[in-house]
Amino acid sequence: VKTVGEAVEVLAKRFGSAGIDTARLDARVLVAFVLGVNTEKVFGYPETELTSDQHNQLEDVAKRRENREPLARIVGEKEFWSLPFKVSRDTLIPRPDSECLVEAVLDHVEERTGNYSILDLGTGTGCLLISLLHELKNAKGVGVDISQSALQTASDNAQRLDVGERAQFIKNNWCDHLAADRGTRFDVVLSNPPYIPDGDIDSLEPEVNKHEPLRALVGGADGLDIYRMLIQETKALINPEGLLIFEVGAGQSDDVVGLGRANGFNLLNVRCDLAGVERCVLFKLS
Ligand SMILES: C[S@@+](CC[C@H](N)C(=O)[O-])C[C@H]1O[C@@H](n2cnc3c(N)ncnc32)[C@H](O)[C@@H]1O
Repeated sequence: VKTVGEAVEVLAKRFGSAGIDTARLDARVLVAFVLGVNTEKVFGYPETELTSDQHNQLEDVAKRRENREPLARIVGEKEFWSLPFKVSRDTLIPRPDSECLVEAVLDHVEERTGNYSILDLGTGTGCLLISLLHELKNAKGVGVDISQSALQTASDNAQRLDVGERAQFIKNNWCDHLAADRGTRFDVVLSNPPYIPDGDIDSLEPEVNKHEPLRALVGGADGLDIYRMLIQETKALINPEGLLIFEVGAGQSDDVVGLGRANGFNLLNVRCDLAGVERCVLFKLS
């Protein structure tokens, strides 16, 4: 393989054989990554020759992708809410579906300039909290995770995206002691918790079950364990009239709505993701 065009052809075939649906696109992205250019350039200048260093580096990343490591993990970054987020082996890669949580909050806060306080439980890369702070310029927020390494990534992302001064990241087991420790409540509490039923983990795509952190995925026998706990425990953390927003897995919205209602929350909205799946449940604390 000498040229960019040949490299894309060869990698697209290899990725296809490895069972990757987006084989050609991935090939182009990885060639662009190794060359340090954008994908349009790879497309437009197929005759560009690869140096031997680039060739070796490409072989290295191609092997990782063949092993079904997610593309975002290899290039180290994923776009969410049109912002670039760094990812690591300890953070879930932000999913476009989760953007509907950001939309839901923005639709339900009274004014964009309000000085809201936001709590993001299981923050990972910080994508939800940071996107909200990016839109709500006077808001401040706390991101909680059990993984110190994820918190470091979230904190780096907040700095890079210019909301570092309004974001705080703390290591904690969900809401344990938070209400007592902080002595204040939040206007908005949101979470994209682990919600995959234990028995479904094996049948997920290898990009997910071999490469995403398991603690970001497993939600107990029926996938609802964390919702049951958070619906109870967040009550002490939300201001009167405050919002509680969850991402839910496909088919879980009715159960989560039921859990909220049984615990004194009023349902405000259920929103669908880009594929039309009910993905976001929004409650108000009465
Ligand atoms: C599904 S991921 C969501 C990540 C991010 N908020 C997003 O939407 O992309 C769930 C997150 O919960 C965190 N988590 C798992 N167990 C936890 C616990 N006991 N306490 C706090 N966070 C936890 C995981 O580390 C992971 O970052």
